[in-house]
Amino acid sequence: MSQSSTLKHKIVVTRNLGPDVMPILEGRTEIDLVVWPEDRACDREWLLRNATGAAALVIMVSDKIDAEVLDAAGPGLRAVSTMSVGYEHVDVKELAKRSIALGYTPDVLTEAVADVCIMLALMAGRNAKQTAALVNEGNWPQFSWAPFLFCGPQLSAPSPSRQRTAGFIGFGRIAKATLARLVPFGFTRCIYGANPNSTRQGSSDDSDKELADRLGLASVRRVDLDTVASESDVVFVLAPGSPSTYHVVNEEFLRRMKKTSVLVNASRGTLVDSDALARVLKEGGIWAAGLDVVEGEPNIPADHPLVREPRCVILPHIGSATNETRVDMASLAANNALAAALGEPMPCALNL
Ligand code: DGY
Repeated sequence: MSQSSTLKHKIVVTRNLGPDVMPILEGRTEIDLVVWPEDRACDREWLLRNATGAAALVIMVSDKIDAEVLDAAGPGLRAVSTMSVGYEHVDVKELAKRSIALGYTPDVLTEAVADVCIMLALMAGRNAKQTAALVNEGNWPQFSWAPFLFCGPQLSAPSPSRQRTAGFIGFGRIAKATLARLVPFGFTRCIYGANPNSTRQGSSDDSDKELADRLGLASVRRVDLDTVASESDVVFVLAPGSPSTYHVVNEEFLRRMKKTSVLVNASRGTLVDSDALARVLKEGGIWAAGLDVVEGEPNIPADHPLVREPRCVILPHIGSATNETRVDMASLAANNALAAALGEPMPCALNL
């Protein structure tokens, strides 16, 4: 037997992936498996120490992967496999420079995140934060039913003559799945702004027409971001986090939005300027915001200006958190790492 066939390939996993998924990696004679032993985000020092000699790393969005980690791993590192579709936490340029592959988990979370987009649009528009809080705090008796108490803009079109427009920043799989969910709500028009990372140029093309026909919409159109801001009833932020999308929703964008409109962000916190959003919400410049991600998360204290805004519903990055989706994401992340460690093509690699 040659020496290389007896060598074990080390895979480091920064979070236990649970009983449904760990068997993919456990008990494999060719794999030396090292798993962060605690039920909290992995300490960086532990990762730096344990990455040494790894062939693959399975990481979470809470792990920052940069030159320091790659140096610690050494020249045998073939792949980083993130259990996420987003990869803002990974220095992809550094990976590309070293010919290290990046595995990620698109597709499997599309439906779960689209569900949360609709949930946030409804919760934010219909005052779920304030109204649920008053019940939780025992204050319902002080607010007996009254004709216009706690009213908000209706997500669904109230009548055929009052149509709704959905706006998107970033128009990938999750945006399209969200749009499909809005059709039964009576949305007839979709406009989307350039995902600044997209290489696609120009205005609407045949695929927009095909999508509109398939969903039974009056139109799907690519427009400039000012138009997304000013014409949408709900703006969904669903573009990847990157330097080119940083604060794409800034004060100017927010001030162009309708006073009755709702902003939903389920992509990355860095796309929305939190201070500007808090100011515009306070002044009534838009109706409400529903956020699954916030700049600076998870360090969002109770006195954060957005947490204090009654019409800003904030969830702690749970867009993909369904039992089914998380098992699928974890399985794909484990299989990506396993394939890379064994020198095989990963089931789902990003083109770097
Ligand atoms: C992702 O996959 O990028 C999500 O944000 C984590 O659910």
